[in-house]
Amino acid sequence: MPANTSGLSRRLDNPCPSWSPPQDRAKRVSLRLFWLLAARRRWYDKLVDRTLSAKTCVEPTHLTAKDVRYLDGILLEPTGRLRLLPASSYASIDLLHLRAWCSLNGRYGLPTTELVAWLKERIAGRSAVEIGAGCGDLGFRLGIPMTDSFQQVTDPATVGMLAQFRQAPATPLPDVEPEDAETAVRRRKPRVVIASWVAERSKPKEEGGTGNVHGPREEDILGRCESYIFVGNEAVHGKKRLRRVPHLMFKYPWLVSRARKPELNVIYLWEGQTMPLKQLR
Ligand SMILES: C[S@@+](CC[C@H](N)C(=O)[O-])C[C@H]1O[C@@H](n2cnc3c(N)ncnc32)[C@H](O)[C@@H]1O
Repeated sequence: MPANTSGLSRRLDNPCPSWSPPQDRAKRVSLRLFWLLAARRRWYDKLVDRTLSAKTCVEPTHLTAKDVRYLDGILLEPTGRLRLLPASSYASIDLLHLRAWCSLNGRYGLPTTELVAWLKERIAGRSAVEIGAGCGDLGFRLGIPMTDSFQQVTDPATVGMLAQFRQAPATPLPDVEPEDAETAVRRRKPRVVIASWVAERSKPKEEGGTGNVHGPREEDILGRCESYIFVGNEAVHGKKRLRRVPHLMFKYPWLVSRARKPELNVIYLWEGQTMPLKQLR
């Protein structure tokens, strides 16, 4: 009978299905162990990425400087300044590698040729200044003064926090002037103020704020210029207080940053208004 035959042959092939020679079992166990460890590693990396990236937009920490060093030659000039590249050049870079590179090189928003052209059109020859310029990549390409409080290299709490997350500080190049945002705007009286990825002044975390107690008071800046243009990411900057004041919002595929969700990169523009500042306090 065909059914019996096949059952018999199965039994003959493998007389006792639960039994296998000891070497086979050892092989199977070590293989299983290997997959278990590999899965655990992948799970751990994902967890690190999710928790750190979502909260602080930092790099995936399992990537090291060695993994992304190849990007130095593509992204940096010999002076240490970021090259001005079209967004298409960034599109060909693995996003995790780009984010890790930014984090290891103190970069947040990355100027592209498209962004610089767009901002120049908005500035339209008016006097302008960049605040919180970090390394100064954007202001340099716009040909405007770059200013920064040097918070990430001088404030001990910030330095400690960045070190804890293994992030490099935004380290201003020599042509970035050490000036906090409010002083820069009061003193220079620019008609346009540009900021990229600068966190607003906030209460400490313990008091329910986002924690940057040294950030600029954007209300003050807004009240002193014709146009305030902020380049950032909705996930990171979308809840800033200033968004309660009428403004325009622009999203373009050529906005590039270290953000985990690049599709949320954004430009906010406050223009030509007398600010109802009291409303914000
Ligand atoms: C997140 S980094 C962004 C740097 C740069 N704009 C970029 O996109 O790569 C924020 C920068 O703002 C600076 N900063 C923080 N508070 C400031 C303040 N009150 N006035 C001026 N700069 C400030 C920090 O020193 C830091 O360089």
